[in-house]
Amino acid sequence: MKGVVFTEFLGLVEQQFSADMVDDIIDDAQLPHGGAYTAVGTYPFPEMVALIVALSRRTGLAVPVLIHAFGQHLFGRFFVLYPAFINACDSTIGLVSHIEQVIHTEVRKLYPDAELPSFDVESHTAQRLSVVYRSPRCLADLAVGLIDGAIVHYGEQGHLQLTREALDAEGTAVRFILEKT
Ligand code: HEM
Repeated sequence: MKGVVFTEFLGLVEQQFSADMVDDIIDDAQLPHGGAYTAVGTYPFPEMVALIVALSRRTGLAVPVLIHAFGQHLFGRFFVLYPAFINACDSTIGLVSHIEQVIHTEVRKLYPDAELPSFDVESHTAQRLSVVYRSPRCLADLAVGLIDGAIVHYGEQGHLQLTREALDAEGTAVRFILEKT
């Protein structure tokens, strides 16, 4: 997993909780290199899982709730770090329909070792989009958080409905439907 995900996650923990909470969860997670991350590095995904589980234990907040909140925050950070991708679209449906062919394709060029999910578009009109998320990392809650962040960004709260449908028991495949209301 790219270091930018770790640095943004720990930045959010510091902002929402405290710098001590960051130190505490790094200690709890017993990370091999002491939890020092740089945005351009690449680190094992299980370290992110260990940090989120540690935060969940310390705060009493459920792991899916924390991952969703992180996704919402991460969308705002992606807009600061990579505004061109988000400015190129004028709606959440437009953006989500472009993740696979445009956005994550560009991310892969920048970071060949990025571990990205796939988002296969099943059907797409201006009113409705159906995509299937697939990833062995089972981060559909992160995807929902990112999409919710996009809905706020494009000012579509209350006008766009997001539904999810699990396609397997593990969470590696999830259908998302975005529909204008
Ligand atoms: C609503 C729009 C987006 C959604 C739903 C989305 C979804 C995701 C998800 C769920 C992951 C976690 C990896 C996994 O599930 O296997 C991910 C990783 C990532 N995405 Fe996106 N993404 C979106 C937009 C963007 C944008 C605009 C950028 C910036 C150009 C971006 C860059 C990345 C990067 C750098 C990673 C980390 C890859 C790694 O850890 O190696 N994404 N994305």
